[in-house]
Order: sequence, then structure tokens, then C-alpha cells
Amino acid sequence: MKKIIITIDGPAASGKGRIAEYISKRWNLKHLDSGILYRIIAYNILKKDINIDSIKDIHKFIISDTKLSYRKFKKLRSEQISKIASKIAVFKFVRNHVNNFQREFVKKNLKNNGFVIDGRDIGSVVFKNADLKLYIDVNEKNRAKRRYKQLIDNGEKSIYHEILKEIKLRDKKDKLRKYSPLVKPYGSHMINNNKSFENTINQINKLIKKI
Ligand code: CDP
Repeated sequence: MKKIIITIDGPAASGKGRIAEYISKRWNLKHLDSGILYRIIAYNILKKDINIDSIKDIHKFIISDTKLSYRKFKKLRSEQISKIASKIAVFKFVRNHVNNFQREFVKKNLKNNGFVIDGRDIGSVVFKNADLKLYIDVNEKNRAKRRYKQLIDNGEKSIYHEILKEIKLRDKKDKLRKYSPLVKPYGSHMINNNKSFENTINQINKLIKKI
């Protein structure tokens, strides 16, 4: 049976993760969060005290022994890790490393119906031939409000205006970077996630039923 691939792209804190988890349960697809891969690299760079301002040192680290996995843990979602992840995600060698891992993972894990994969370049670069491509659209203020709540719930101290500033900065980095910038992928469906979650999933379920 053919494996289904659904991609979800969109800016920081647009709710991709929650939407992907919902689709995963409702349609029995394995959820892969590509952001985790960038966050794990960022976490290890910090842990191993690698100079974040030296491309040479980051490159050396990537080609040495960077084992990737989709394993999530709470520390990966801190603002410090978010900043480093967004900084290293601009490098082509980092992106190639992450993308090769993702494609291999999908090729090797054949036991499920398919995958729902979220990130910034999944429908535009990593899985261009996906069965359904979604692009999540939410305005900056709603995203900042949601991220603020998420951090507070995680027990991190947080200031709303700082979060909004950080989100604007990350959007700029994601959209302006040379390699795999955040774009609405060719052939993707724009999903408005400014209203209720129910409204969002209704838009999506209608599209999935058509696959
Ligand atoms: O949850 P949030 O959307 O804020 O971030 P994430 O999806 O966990 O991704 C962390 C960082 O990795 C982002 O700031 C992106 O710059 C980068 N990323 C990327 O460049 N490409 C992807 N496919 C996924 C994440």
C-alpha cells in the first residue's frame, strides 16, 4: 500500500505541532516534527560548548558524530534553544544533514500508513511530491500570545513583548535565508489558523478526505 505523506509548513508558533498531532491521531499517520532535529543540534552545540559564531566549528561538529532523532524533551523548547536552532538553520550543510536524515527515516520506517511532517521547508524542499501540502497562516500577535502561554505553562519566565520581538526576528531569518527559505510551497493549501482549532481542523479534514 502506498504511504501517504502530508506536509505542514508555516512560521514560528503557528500551531503546526498541535495540528500535526491531531492529524496523526485522527488519520493514523506517524508525526515527524522536523523542528526537533534543528533543536537537538542546537542543544548539543550548547552542551558541547561549541562556538556558535564559528561556522567552521559548527561544520566540524556536524560532520563528526551528530546522531539525530525525533526524541522530544522539555529542554528543547526553551527560548535559548529556539534562538540557536534558528541561527544554525541558515547553513546549507546543517539543512542537508537534517534533510538526509528525514528522507532516510521515511524510507526505512515502512510499518505505518504514512507520515505527517511539519516544519519550514517540508513541502517546498524535503518532500516536494507529498500527497497533501498545508501552509499554516496565523498573524504575528496570535502567534506571540500562544508562544507566551506555552512558555509560561512550561515554567519559563517570559515577557509578551520580548516574545513578539523574537517571533518577528525569527520570521525574518526564516524568510530571508538563502537556503530553503520559508515560503508557501508550490501546490500547497493555505490554512487559516487564526480562529478556533475546530475551524482549522474542519478545513484540513475536508482536504484529507479528498486524498
Ligand atoms: O515551534 P517553532 O515553530 O517555533 O520552531 P520549530 O519548528 O521547533 O523549529 C525550530 C527552528 O528550526 C526554527 O526557528 C527554524 O528556523 C528551524 N527549522 C527550519 O529551518 N526548517 C524546518 N523544517 C524546521 C525548523
